[in-house]
Amino acid sequence: MKPVTITTLQAMKQAGEKITCLTAYDYSFAHLLDSAGIDMIIVGDSVGMVCQGHETTLPVTLDDMVYHTRCVASGCQRTLIVADMPFLSYEVSPDLTFSNAGRLMKEGYAHVVKIEGGRTMAETVRFLTERGIPVCGHLGLTPQSVHQLGGFRVQGRDKAAAERLLNDARALQEAGASILVLEAIPSELAKHVSAELTIPTIGIGAGPGCDGQVLVLQDMLGIYPRRSPKFSKNFMEENGTIQAAVKAFIAAVREQEFPGPEHSF
Ligand code: KIV
Repeated sequence: MKPVTITTLQAMKQAGEKITCLTAYDYSFAHLLDSAGIDMIIVGDSVGMVCQGHETTLPVTLDDMVYHTRCVASGCQRTLIVADMPFLSYEVSPDLTFSNAGRLMKEGYAHVVKIEGGRTMAETVRFLTERGIPVCGHLGLTPQSVHQLGGFRVQGRDKAAAERLLNDARALQEAGASILVLEAIPSELAKHVSAELTIPTIGIGAGPGCDGQVLVLQDMLGIYPRRSPKFSKNFMEENGTIQAAVKAFIAAVREQEFPGPEHSF
């Protein structure tokens, strides 16, 4: 089984094949997703909400992320593993960012690290990628800025905000980012950004025009006790087992049946 790499994702974008991605935080789920043929797993700092029960992702520590990334890596043979850099682990200085990202790769076995933010993060992305650490960007609803954004709200709705987001996306690509997550933005904007960029975009609440789709595992299994976002879909309802739900998600993304208009803005 050939491992999925950032080159694989690049080739999938060029071939128009949709990239499938879910979050995971432990060995058993990672093994299940890897066996089902998922292309990419994000070890998200959503772990703070769906596993630790916090209201936001802000309390998650680098040690938490290293621990969960390592658990996920033990379950994967083929899948590309992207680990979130948690709040305050990449904003302080380039040196600290590099050593924190390095820990996610060296101790957690991540293949790629993910950071939130646009142009202001471009130099950080350049610093990491020039030193051999692949980076995934994250734009739109960036949960680590939830208090600044005034809640978990759709972003990029007006013309000025949409232009800013497009420029941010270009700046991240130019700085060397290999993948870009687009969260909770209008479908038309996500489609435009995805067409403008050469790197693959992975959407969550960003409509069907992205190069791939990701959902938080607990949301798509319908087991998160708090409210799941409108853009998520409970794949357990119609499929009965976790394995079948994951396979249905993968098929729905590949066949471009998910996300539908009811899951988009
Ligand atoms: O933390 C997370 O789970 C994420 C993905 C949903 C993109 O950032």
